[in-house]
Amino acid sequence: MKSSAPSNIALIKYMGKVDGIGNKPINASLSWTLENLRSEVHIEPVKGPDYWSPLFDLKLKPHSVEKFLKHFKFLKEKWNVHENFHIKSGNTFPSDCGLASSASSFAALTLAAAEIFQKSHPQKWGADLKELSKLSRQGSGSSCRSFFSPWALWKEEGAEALDLPLRLLHAVVILENEPKKVSSSEAHKRVITSPRFSGRVKRAESRLEDLISIIRKNEWKIGRELVWEEFEDMHDLFHTSQNPFRYITAKAREVLNWSETNWKQEGHGPWVTLDAGPNIHFLFEKSDLQWAEKYMQKFKNETVIKSWKMD
Ligand code: PMV
Repeated sequence: MKSSAPSNIALIKYMGKVDGIGNKPINASLSWTLENLRSEVHIEPVKGPDYWSPLFDLKLKPHSVEKFLKHFKFLKEKWNVHENFHIKSGNTFPSDCGLASSASSFAALTLAAAEIFQKSHPQKWGADLKELSKLSRQGSGSSCRSFFSPWALWKEEGAEALDLPLRLLHAVVILENEPKKVSSSEAHKRVITSPRFSGRVKRAESRLEDLISIIRKNEWKIGRELVWEEFEDMHDLFHTSQNPFRYITAKAREVLNWSETNWKQEGHGPWVTLDAGPNIHFLFEKSDLQWAEKYMQKFKNETVIKSWKMD
């Protein structure tokens, strides 16, 4: 059984969990699905215990393998499956550096497991994406948004598709592909110690409402400011937590400054956001293809993954 799932980039971020309950977010989040950044999972029955091996040379830390197998065990329990399996997984993009490879890989694992288990142990909800999204959330929170495309809204238990009249082109500039020193699980814990955490739910929820309305009204410029504010807000929580940490490197700040100046000069530009990493995501309006291509020339010497191809 083979399944594949996309990663996603949140414009309104999930950061901070409700105490003690499997990856329940303190605020709702909104993401754009990254069809060009995908994970693949292969599952086949075996005689011995469940085990994992890499696809496409993926290097996973032992702790991450354990987390992946733990989620698989949880899914087996849900379907009442007792057989054992060999699971292979890999990503079409660098892992563990803030490109949300855990979102795509846990979504792909949940999809592959559901498909194989559903054959021998049918469940009423087995192929229901909303239910699968809820199950996947328990393995990796942000993975629950990867079940819906192009827009996903995650409020509590799981995500759902949101019908918005905006289509985007995505490019990410990979400034660093080293594994991050502070995992996002750790980040979720540390942010609650920041003095700026009080009020975070209100800020995120109010931005979410505004962003949806901005998209519906096609107010690109205001949208850019809001999306920028939101990633800076999340990173400020990192910088001001009791045990502070930082993903934004000097190089990343340089690129952000360039983008800001360019916006002021041109009066036009992409939406910009960062995940839990230094890599910079640019989102252009779909109709802006030529302009996006020109903009990205600035990064011709960097590693860039784009959702579009030009001859
Ligand atoms: O799903 P997790 O626990 O890896 O959390 C990821 C959170 C961010 O990527 C930083 C933001 C988001 O909403 O995707």
